[in-house]
Amino acid sequence: MTDNSSPTAASRRSFLRTAAFAGAGLATGAAQAQTPKPDPAITEVPDWTRYLGPGVQNAPYGSPSKFEKHIVRQDVEWLTASRESSVNFTPLHALDGVITPSGLCFERHHSGVAEVDPAKHRLMIHGLVDKSLVFTMEDLKRFPGRINHAYFLECAANSGMEWRGAQLNGCQFTHGMIHNVWYHGLPLKTLLDEAGVKPKGKWLLAEGADSAAMTRSIPMEKALKDCMIAWGMNGEALRPEQGYPLRLVVPGWEGNMWVKWLRRLEVGDEPWEQREETSKYTDLLADGRARRFTWIMDAKSVVTSPSPQAPLVQKGPNVITGIAWSGRGRMQRIDVTIDGGKNWTTARLDGPNMPLSMVRFYLDFDWDGREMLIQSRAMDETGYVQPTKEELRKVRGVNSIYHNNGIQTWLVRSNGETENVEIS
Ligand code: MTE
Ligand code: CO
Repeated sequence: MTDNSSPTAASRRSFLRTAAFAGAGLATGAAQAQTPKPDPAITEVPDWTRYLGPGVQNAPYGSPSKFEKHIVRQDVEWLTASRESSVNFTPLHALDGVITPSGLCFERHHSGVAEVDPAKHRLMIHGLVDKSLVFTMEDLKRFPGRINHAYFLECAANSGMEWRGAQLNGCQFTHGMIHNVWYHGLPLKTLLDEAGVKPKGKWLLAEGADSAAMTRSIPMEKALKDCMIAWGMNGEALRPEQGYPLRLVVPGWEGNMWVKWLRRLEVGDEPWEQREETSKYTDLLADGRARRFTWIMDAKSVVTSPSPQAPLVQKGPNVITGIAWSGRGRMQRIDVTIDGGKNWTTARLDGPNMPLSMVRFYLDFDWDGREMLIQSRAMDETGYVQPTKEELRKVRGVNSIYHNNGIQTWLVRSNGETENVEIS
């Protein structure tokens, strides 16, 4: 990256100067010669200082400030035929840190949100086990060995609309089928051990209680390694959209396997070849063959700001920020370029860097108003490096929907407007 993109003491000084003048209501250098016009935001006492605010219990369950009401999940109407079998997207461009607020987690349902009464909900474990078991929610919560983990969940179809070229204008839409929250529950292994998996039991079928009865086959090795059954997220009960009262957590693997409204686990000796692992969630290659059982979500990253919904507004000091994640473990390094990949700078990570969980990166820089091609490139602890879209297409063709982890490019124009583009 060029010299003028790294913050120096001088640039920090000029930042303070700009800030002081902006506070005095001065926009340009020419105006600096005149007497500053008083800024009413400084000279007038606002209503919120004059009057009492609402008391406690005005909002027994709080919600964001009304000034933030535009920060919401959004869908793309033409994508799906109905809203019951559809998806909306996390507003990544407006978020910071690594934890997705529960009310902004993208939703993906095949048959809408099931409204499940926890008192009537049961989890059954059967098949190749020593004893079949049925649990109530109360039974599960009394079980010893409860755990907490933060994991990302990425739909396999995230960025799926971008295989044939840049299409959707906003990281909310290109990358927003992801969320990263804390889960509270039990290791799946605890329950499987209680049931006693027979030696021939090499696969597990997970089934949801929604009217899609979503079903996926999961290899027993993964089920015993780090899967969870979770009834909580971000400190409280799961949200209905996320599978209340119980969901399966399959760390690092494609979102479709994280069965919501989980009601049944069957142990078997081979995969069930359900719709979601045959006609769907397989990857059609250029030669007509399809890859299947591509469960792991490979390392990926995206700059969330600037991005089409979060353009740059001022020259001078600015922050490039984004998120990265890998289904293979911890994130090692994220590099950022502002010149379309000619020069790369390693970004600063801040906040937790937990395996199979999102990390947040920052690059503070001075923008001189030039046009930029911004990209980020993630490398995980296995040494896997996020590929360019071109590299990905060489191997995968353009027929796929799922598992597009190619490097994203944003074109920042000299007026700050930002667009989804591709460079070759
Ligand atoms: N589980 C059930 N029972 N029904 C569903 O439609 N959708 C799956 C998975 N689990 C689904 C489900 C898909 S495709 C994804 S990407 C994730 O849930 C989405 O989880 P979220 O809605 O919490 O974002
Ligand atoms: Co999905």
